[in-house]
Amino acid sequence: MIKFDATHAFLKESLSAYQEQVTACHEALMNKSGKGNDYVGWVEWPNQYDKNEIERIKECAKRMREQCEVFIVCGIGGSYLGARAAIEMMNGLYGKKEPEIIFMGNTFSSTYIAQVMDYIKDKEVCVNVISKSGTTTETSVAFRLLKQFMEAKYGDESAKRIVATTDKARGTLKALADAKGYETFVIPDDIGGRFSVITPVGLLPIAVAGINIDAILAGLKAAYDDLASADLSQNPAYQYAVCRRILQNADKNVEMLVTYEPNMTMVAEWWKQLFGESEGKEEKGVLPCSATFSTDLHSLGQFIQEGKKVLFETLLLCEKPLLDMEFPHDEEDNDHMNYLAGKSLDWVNKMACQGTLEAHEESGNVPNLIITIPDMSAKSFGYMCYFFFRACAMTCYLLDINPFNQPGVEVYKKNMFRLLGKK
Ligand code: PA5
Repeated sequence: MIKFDATHAFLKESLSAYQEQVTACHEALMNKSGKGNDYVGWVEWPNQYDKNEIERIKECAKRMREQCEVFIVCGIGGSYLGARAAIEMMNGLYGKKEPEIIFMGNTFSSTYIAQVMDYIKDKEVCVNVISKSGTTTETSVAFRLLKQFMEAKYGDESAKRIVATTDKARGTLKALADAKGYETFVIPDDIGGRFSVITPVGLLPIAVAGINIDAILAGLKAAYDDLASADLSQNPAYQYAVCRRILQNADKNVEMLVTYEPNMTMVAEWWKQLFGESEGKEEKGVLPCSATFSTDLHSLGQFIQEGKKVLFETLLLCEKPLLDMEFPHDEEDNDHMNYLAGKSLDWVNKMACQGTLEAHEESGNVPNLIITIPDMSAKSFGYMCYFFFRACAMTCYLLDINPFNQPGVEVYKKNMFRLLGKK
């Protein structure tokens, strides 16, 4: 379902030279004997998720959809990026919004928070607060404001409009949810934040947005089956993982994930967290960054073509757009655009992609990897998530890094707490 093509990257090393290392890393992942082995619950999740829990998510989502015009997802990092990526990819940026989904708890910006609070004041609102630790400050700040707003607006009924997704036992949020009587969903102990879009963390908001979560789970399962082999020639996720290592060996220390669809911009943000937080340790790793073309060809295109040769591109292409339209003929043709009359806009987008690929790889000397998904469906989203999970774990294990922790994130928190006067 995903096609992977490395021929444009002109790799100096051969993929097959990595087979022995890949086999060892694959076994470590599957036997749970590798680094961070407490957090590999996502590997078997496509076979082991609790079907009753999925039904409860669907029932809760239905109830939320009936009650609200605005559904607030309050979380940060892995506790919101996947849901936002999925919803924007599948519903589009200006598509159906019943209810409208708004993301909070991912910033301290007073402007952002105050504007959201003002925007929702006369609307019917439900809230999903999501935090595995239950103590993340950005999320806690926003949730206190939301909780007070909901209690002032709905009184006791507010408890039926708030859902908490958190650890099964630990953390302030779990205690608060129990005390208030919120419905709760559990984030499994062995699945970390950036792998959690496939759990209630992602699935509840995605279901509230009207998307078929069974199809996401079917995509996950299809990817699990297709990507089961340690044999590099059979496993495109592992091919991608190895290509990243080969390109870094050739001094390409930056990977730019490129999409040609604005509604996949948040997929790239989700991917950046997945790879950045997993791999950026011990002064190792490729810096993940992203661009949406052709928009960003008018900003970053110059650097990519002629700037310092630090990066490679990974094109995340989609064969079929969500929607398409024909470019119209114009009798006057005073804009001289009739040469495109009768062509589909998606065809134009694809020609821009082809022209850019030629420009970047031939005269720009920028290696390109190409990942192609068939469409922007729920099944493809699920498949793509699992593809990137497998690739991420493999590429980190090849670097001898624990993909599943994020010790570096604590440093800013420590300083911030000192400055905020937290005891
Ligand atoms: O990937 C991760 O584990 C992190 O990015 C977390 O998702 C993020 O820090 C939010 O944490 P929590 O869900 O505990 O509020």
